[in-house]
Amino acid sequence: MARRGVQFAVAMLHVALVLLACAPSAQGALPSDNISVQWNRLFQQIFCTGNGQRFEPSILQAHLNLAQWHALVALKHTGTCTTEEAVVAYASFTVLVNYFPASSESDIDPLLAKQIKALGLTKSQKKLAKSLGEAVAKRLIGTRQPLKEFLLEDIHNAVAARGGDHPGLWDYIPNTPHNVTAPLITHYYNLEQPFILPDPIEFVKQYLGHLKPPKVPSDEWDASYASLVDLGRIDWPGRTKAMNFTASLYYGCNKVNVTYTTAGCNVDLFWIQAAFDALPATTSLYDAVTLLAKMSVALHEAQLVIMVMKDGYYFWRPAQAFRTGDERHAPFPNWTPYAYTFFDPEFPSGMVGVTTAGATVLQSFFGENATVPFTVYGNGAFDLACPGSPGVVIPPRHYDSIQAAIEETILGRIYSGGHYNSSTRDGEIVGRTVAKYVLKHWAKRTPSGVQPDTEYLDVFVELPAKQQEFLPVHYEV
Ligand SMILES: *[C@@H]1O[C@H](CO)[C@@H](O)[C@H](O)[C@H]1NC(C)=O
Ligand SMILES: *[C@@H]1O[C@H](CO)[C@@H](O)[C@H](O)[C@H]1NC(C)=O
Ligand SMILES: *[C@@H]1O[C@H](CO)[C@@H](O)[C@H](O)[C@H]1NC(C)=O
Ligand SMILES: *[C@@H]1O[C@H](CO)[C@@H](O)[C@H](O)[C@H]1NC(C)=O
Ligand SMILES: *[C@@H]1O[C@H](CO)[C@@H](O)[C@H](O)[C@H]1NC(C)=O
Ligand SMILES: *[C@@H]1O[C@H](CO)[C@@H](O)[C@H](O)[C@H]1NC(C)=O
Repeated sequence: MARRGVQFAVAMLHVALVLLACAPSAQGALPSDNISVQWNRLFQQIFCTGNGQRFEPSILQAHLNLAQWHALVALKHTGTCTTEEAVVAYASFTVLVNYFPASSESDIDPLLAKQIKALGLTKSQKKLAKSLGEAVAKRLIGTRQPLKEFLLEDIHNAVAARGGDHPGLWDYIPNTPHNVTAPLITHYYNLEQPFILPDPIEFVKQYLGHLKPPKVPSDEWDASYASLVDLGRIDWPGRTKAMNFTASLYYGCNKVNVTYTTAGCNVDLFWIQAAFDALPATTSLYDAVTLLAKMSVALHEAQLVIMVMKDGYYFWRPAQAFRTGDERHAPFPNWTPYAYTFFDPEFPSGMVGVTTAGATVLQSFFGENATVPFTVYGNGAFDLACPGSPGVVIPPRHYDSIQAAIEETILGRIYSGGHYNSSTRDGEIVGRTVAKYVLKHWAKRTPSGVQPDTEYLDVFVELPAKQQEFLPVHYEV
C-alpha cells in the first residue's frame, strides 16, 4: 500500500482546480492570533473535556496538524487563488467536525465562522479554500481511519489463551491466574499504522534492540528496585514538598477542567503548547504548521513504539513487583505509589518517551545546541487533581531549556512511583531515536500512510512466558 497521500490529493485537486487558478495569493506572514494555534486549542478543549471520540490524543492530533500541513502543501502546488489561513481553517474544521460531531454547533462551526469573517475573503477565495481544505482533510481521514473496535476483542481472546505467569511479568501474582478482563487500552496503538516508521516491531528490533527491562533476579533488577522503593512510595518519610510537586505534574490521568485558553491535558498537548510559546512571533504560518505536523507525527510514532515495547516485554509495575517480592526481595505488602499508576506494563516509561520525542522535534527547529526557554500556561497539561490522587493546582511553568523539561518528566515519573529509574532513561532513548528517525525521513516519504483493510486482519498475540522475552502484538493482512 502506497504512502502517497499528498501527491495523490494534490494531483486530484490540480485537475479539479486548474481552470480556476489565478495569480498566486500572498504567502502571508502569521497574523497575530494565528489560525493554526486556534484550532489546536479548540482540539485540546474538546478532547480534554471528553466530548467526542476517545482515541488517544496523538492519533487525532496528528490528523489535525497533518491536514493543516497538507492544505498548505496543496495550496502551494495548485497555486490556487486563496489564502494560507483560509485553507488551514477549512482543513482543520473538516477534521474536527469528523471526529467531534457533537461539538460542531457549539464550538467548531463558530470558530470557523469567526475566522473566515476576520480573513475578509472574496466569495471565490472562500469557495476555493473550502474545496481544497476539505479535500485534503477528507483524504487524510479516509486513508487513516483509527482502528476498528472489534480487533480489541481478538486481542483479549488471544491474551486469555496464553500460558502461565512468571515473576517480572506484568500480571504476575503468585498462584493466581491471569486476569482476562484486565483492560488493554494500549493496544489501540499497536493497531495503529505508523506514518513514517517502517513496521514498528522491526523498528524496535533494529534501533532499540539493546534496551530491555532488567532480568529478575539480577544485579540490574536490584538497582532498579533500589532506585524506586523509597523515592516512589507515598509514605516514605524522606519525601519533600518539591518531590511531591514534581510527581504531581506527571500523573497518568487526564481530561480534568481544561478550557480553551489553558494548556492541554496530556503530554502530547504539552509539547504543542511549548511550541506555541517558544516559536518566534515572526515564524511563518507554513513553518509553524510544518513543525507542528512533524511534532504530532513524532509523538504518535513514539507512542506507538512505546506501546509495542510495553506489551512486548510485559514488565511488571512497581506496586505489583514490590508487593509480590521476588527471589532477592521480601514482599512489601503495603507498598503504594505516590500517584495513580496507569494500568499497563511498565517498560519503558511512556511519559518520558513521548516527552522526549516532542522535545527532540522542537529542539531541532532551533538547532541541537540552542538553549530554548519556554513557558507552558494553565494547569491541565500536568493532569492536576486526578480523582483519587493527591494533586495540586499548577501555575504557569517556565523551563530554562527543552532538556530541563525532559529531566523534570523523568523525576516526576520516579517520584510518582510509576517507573524505575532505568525505564525512564530507556524511555528517553526511545523518544529521541524515534523523533530523529521521523525528522530524517520526513522529506523522503510522504507522511500519509494508509491503514490496511481491517476486515482481513488477523491479530497475533503472544505474551512472554519467560521474562525479558520480546513477544509483540502484531497483525497481518
Ligand atoms: C500564533 O499566535 C499566537 C497568539 O497571538 C502567538 O503568540 C504566536 O507567536 C503565534 N505563533 C507563531 C508560530 O508565531
Ligand atoms: C481484573 O481486572 C478488572 C479490570 O481492571 C478488575 O476490575 C478486576 O477486579 C480484576 N480481577 C481480579 C480478580 O483481580
Ligand atoms: C538514575 O540513572 C541515572 C543514569 O543512569 C543516574 O545518574 C542516577 O543517579 C540514577 N538515579 C537513581 C535515583 O537511581
Ligand atoms: C508528600 O505527599 C504525601 C502524600 O500525600 C504526604 O503525606 C506528605 O506529607 C507530603 N510531604 C510534604 C513534605 O509535603
Ligand atoms: C473545575 O473548575 C471549576 C470552576 O473553576 C471548579 O469549581 C471545579 O472544582 C474544578 N474541578 C476540578 C476537578 O478541578
Ligand atoms: C553541538 O555541540 C556538540 C558538542 O559540543 C558538537 O559536537 C556539535 O557539532 C554541535 N552541533 C551543532 C549543530 O552545532
